[in-house]
Amino acid sequence: MAPTIIHLRAETKPLERRSPLSPASAKALLDAGYVLHVERSSDRIYKDSEYEAVGAEMVPAGTWVNAPTDHIILGLKEITDGDSPLPHTYIHFQHCFKKQDGWAAALSRFSRGNGLLYDLEFLTEPNGRRVAAFGYWAGYAGTAIAMLAWAHQILHPGTPQGSVPVFDSAPELAEHVKKAIAPAVAANNNQLPRAIVIGALGRCGNGARDFCLTIGLPKENILEWDLPETKKGGPFKEIATSDIFVNCVYLGAAKIPPFVTFDSLAEAGDERRLRVICDVSCDPNSENNPIPVYSTYSSFDSPTVPVKEKVENPELRVIAIDHLPTLVARESSDEFSSLLLPSLLTLNKRDTEGVWTRAQNTFNERVKELPASN
Ligand SMILES: NC(=O)c1ccc[n+]([C@@H]2O[C@H](COP(=O)([O-])OP(=O)(O)OC[C@H]3O[C@@H](n4cnc5c(N)ncnc54)[C@H](O)[C@@H]3O)[C@@H](O)[C@H]2O)c1
Repeated sequence: MAPTIIHLRAETKPLERRSPLSPASAKALLDAGYVLHVERSSDRIYKDSEYEAVGAEMVPAGTWVNAPTDHIILGLKEITDGDSPLPHTYIHFQHCFKKQDGWAAALSRFSRGNGLLYDLEFLTEPNGRRVAAFGYWAGYAGTAIAMLAWAHQILHPGTPQGSVPVFDSAPELAEHVKKAIAPAVAANNNQLPRAIVIGALGRCGNGARDFCLTIGLPKENILEWDLPETKKGGPFKEIATSDIFVNCVYLGAAKIPPFVTFDSLAEAGDERRLRVICDVSCDPNSENNPIPVYSTYSSFDSPTVPVKEKVENPELRVIAIDHLPTLVARESSDEFSSLLLPSLLTLNKRDTEGVWTRAQNTFNERVKELPASN
């Protein structure tokens, strides 16, 4: 049987440094008899030399477009350029299976080209749980930015925060945050911030809690809530009286009462300490958004957006960045890649029941939903 050939794309989205395939996972695939073509990339957190060292064949960026159609094209973020039909088998996050904006145009490229998209968000275990996700490091990175925003507000009230600095490792980021918050803690009567994490038992929630502990917050400064604590229904005063709120819940289809509202913030009066909300779940446009006090995304360049109603002193700002793990690109790629590897190792024997078959069924179902014009 001819070996399965995997072609790792160079990502093209600005500031994207993550990769779904680490050099360690590349080596495991090569050891298992796969052939691996890796596009060169100066943006990727892993150096080209790390892939070369394990024996991958390096190829120029963008060559996936003209690769033979039996090569499997692996990437992280969506393919956006152009409108041409896509004839290969692809593995990446395309963000079109939930009918997001532009879904039909994006999806029809695969069906028009007789291609197949295994969307990474829809690689699942038989029980529906995702095979690989980036949650832990999203919570970690989001909480880091929240701490920087808290310190910035105390030290430089009313001024823009500036872009989030880039680090090559999570310990470097944590060290930076520790140093950055020290003068703010001093200016805050030597009090460390108090944080509330909701969705604390999940992947993002664990990362949020661990970041707090890593920079030296005592456990009593971290309120960890999950379903039992929110069962009574929001809004919750405990949010307004914390300094930082990190939202990490995974919302199902059911609508829940909001965790915080303009009125609940106003009602807290002088007891309000809340200065920063980090919405890791980050669904500002969903009608289920449990934080209906903001409506736009923020970015690493401009990490916070203001809450404009009923909060003046202290000001309140929201972090809503939808690709947080990029900030800790190496650790998040290592984790994601090791979770994905067992599935990649079965690509050469896609059976009738496995993860790839389930993902192909999802693709086929979504294609059937395409409007006739596509
Ligand atoms: N911003 C980003 O870059 C980024 C990256 C990764 C994930 N996410 C998002 O973060 C969210 C969480 O992802 P995850 O992987 O941690 O999910 P998860 O399933 O591991 O954890 C979610 C947690 O939320 C809890 N929860 C659900 N509803 C709740 C409620 N009403 N009250 C209290 N707790 C509740 C669950 O019990 C669970 O513990 C998802 O929406 C995901 O899409 C964002």
